Amino acid sequence: MNIQAVHGAIQNSDSGAIIVNLFEGQAISGATKTVDEALGGAISDLIAAGDFTGKAGQTGVLYPRGAIAAQRVILVGLGTPDSLSLDSVRRAAAVAIKKAQELQVRQVATVLHGAGGLALRDAAQAIAEGSLLALYTYHGQKTSDAPENLPESLAVIVPDKGDLPAAEAGIRDGDAIAAGVTLARDLGNLPPNICTPEYMAQTARTMAQAAGLKCDVLEKAQMEALKMGAHLAVAQGSDTPPRFIILEHNAERASELPTLVLVGKGVTFDTGGYSLKTGEGMATMKNDMSGAAAVIGAMRAIAGLGVPLHVVGLAPAADNMINGHAYRPQEVITASNGVTIEIISTDAEGRMLLADALVYAGRYQPDAVVDIATLTGACVVALGSGVAAGVFSTADTLRDNLLAAADTTGEKVWPLPLFPDYEKAIESQTADIKNTGGRTGGVGTSAVFLQHFVDYPVWAHVDMAGMAIDVPEIPYVPAKGSSGYGVRLLTALAQQMAAK
Ligand code: BES
Ligand code: MN
Ligand code: ZN
Repeated sequence: MNIQAVHGAIQNSDSGAIIVNLFEGQAISGATKTVDEALGGAISDLIAAGDFTGKAGQTGVLYPRGAIAAQRVILVGLGTPDSLSLDSVRRAAAVAIKKAQELQVRQVATVLHGAGGLALRDAAQAIAEGSLLALYTYHGQKTSDAPENLPESLAVIVPDKGDLPAAEAGIRDGDAIAAGVTLARDLGNLPPNICTPEYMAQTARTMAQAAGLKCDVLEKAQMEALKMGAHLAVAQGSDTPPRFIILEHNAERASELPTLVLVGKGVTFDTGGYSLKTGEGMATMKNDMSGAAAVIGAMRAIAGLGVPLHVVGLAPAADNMINGHAYRPQEVITASNGVTIEIISTDAEGRMLLADALVYAGRYQPDAVVDIATLTGACVVALGSGVAAGVFSTADTLRDNLLAAADTTGEKVWPLPLFPDYEKAIESQTADIKNTGGRTGGVGTSAVFLQHFVDYPVWAHVDMAGMAIDVPEIPYVPAKGSSGYGVRLLTALAQQMAAK
């Protein structure tokens, strides 16, 4: 769907549907009032009858019968005025465009929700994001598919001509961000026989070419040369070779700009290895590359936005499988920084990939490193499924930046502690550390494990195990399948760091 800012008045639009809004508990005003008057009070009647209150998520449809040029009026609830936020705008835009899609409307026009209370550029961005993300569908490999009835165009109506450039800029940013999220969702939804490490690498190369990013992909021999023993130990149980994907934004300005390194877990299928998962536990493990997908998607968005920061995206990718070469419990593996790891569970494979990637991040002398991973079931137990990701950080500023990024994007994170006490649980008799702790504190012990591979002061770890798939009740996130979580969070973080 093509989104454009258009100077004009919504009541003059001749599109298939115009979208206007109502705040809950507030008298009808602004553009909605103008449209109501043109319709002879039809919206007021709806409200008076108690059929529409402006509650968030609510919609109503009216037929102007020639009173205005548009064929339909879609009314959308914005919630209470004090709850107005970029996320309520994103949600309202999502709900309204899905209504238009359901009604098979091709040309849609919308008011700029929230422009009264929010910065106009940000509101325009939120409308673009919410609308595009709401219309996402994954086609998969179905040989026949129901028609999608996608709207072709959305005009964001700007009453003041002077606001056009800001609205246009916001829409452009929203477009770039939605493209990044779409890419991440597609990678997450693809089956593991298609979305292999090399497929991810090829996707990254193609995207980098189009977006103007630098892209390097390390293959097994190069990883061996770098002594990435932890990543390779996981990969050796599969016939599908690993890849270490490196994307770089503003590479040529690395010396003048601050450096942010993003690292994402890319396990393209997690059987658990010899510490085999149950059938039920394995059923969703094609999504175990969602951290890597979030990083690749964020790099796409960051490039599109032209964020003035040197950003590196690392996506270590491998299958966790079983064959005659697969790593086993009790093996001792040496990571690329020389730290030795006693394997307790081959199912704790994500931290093995991250270990070598976090070491690799150090070569950029980063100002900040953030890794994101579907790392532990324990994090899902702690924070719930589809509620929030856990965030650990060695630096208060980075943690606060991530919390602020979560706030603007609606991609929630919740701080968890890096207590040194967790170290006890990963002490090993035979190596420097074990790859898992005991039964309790699984999310904390995974985080302190990762810390052994971090030799820079500013690092954060985001455990998104509960956020990768089936996130319910957000109108711009599919209730089933890959959520694309993390792309908007990481992109907003980069934007914030660049603004400082
Ligand atoms: N990929 C899983 C974590 C996961 C679980 C993600 C459920 C999404 C939903 C990870 O590799 C894993 O298996 N973790 C183990 C760690 C354990 C062996 C210490 C876990 O959480 O059980
Ligand atoms: Mn696992
Ligand atoms: Zn895993």
